[in-house]
Amino acid sequence: MSPPDSGNVPTVETERFRQVIRHLAAGVTIITSSLGGEPVGLTATAVCSISATPPMLLVSVTAGCRTALGMEKSGAFAVHMLRHAGRRYAEQFAARGHHFAGVEMGHDPDTKVPLLHDVLGWFLCAVEQVVPAADHVLFVGRVLQCELKDKAPDPLLYFDRSYRKLAPGAEPGAENLEPWGSPQDAGLPGWGWP
Ligand SMILES: Cc1cc2nc3c(=O)[nH]c(=O)nc-3n(C[C@H](O)[C@H](O)[C@H](O)COP(=O)(O)O)c2cc1C
Repeated sequence: MSPPDSGNVPTVETERFRQVIRHLAAGVTIITSSLGGEPVGLTATAVCSISATPPMLLVSVTAGCRTALGMEKSGAFAVHMLRHAGRRYAEQFAARGHHFAGVEMGHDPDTKVPLLHDVLGWFLCAVEQVVPAADHVLFVGRVLQCELKDKAPDPLLYFDRSYRKLAPGAEPGAENLEPWGSPQDAGLPGWGWP
């Protein structure tokens, strides 16, 4: 399938797009990789699950940044889901400067990809596809390993240009909700999707 020719397609203005998309609530992650033996990484919300069989993730990273170069060259990366208490990591990995200062971590022995310790959970991926898209690069990764580290996860969220905390108790009845996919969801749009 050839890519669509967007040359003549009228698009919305960037500011209007930003004003709407910033209301898409997202979990905050740190993507890491290795470039010439050095750890590289950045804060990212452009992360999604593609499939469970096989387990695959998609991430979107600014083209030409050190993290993207590391992912391309090493062919591997990790995605770390942050705890709400890990907000300082999000700020540190989004700022200029040494992203890994004071961060406790190990690394995958085969790929040298850094694996951060103090996180909600993580995925280690092998790059399967690299797709240039505008000023970003999409990486499709096959999940080699993953771990949920937190038994009572309290994720760090990003919404409307601010870090947020999940507050299920604030929703009337939310405390009684079953996880999505439970029998009471049968028949709803999207049911059966894991
Ligand atoms: C909440 C948040 C989400 C972000 N999501 C992404 C993302 O999905 N992809 C990306 O390339 N950059 C994203 N960024 C920007 C990078 O974290 C930022 O540009 C980082 O400084 C890049 O590292 P570098 O300076 O080493 O290139 C995000 C920043 C923040 C604060």
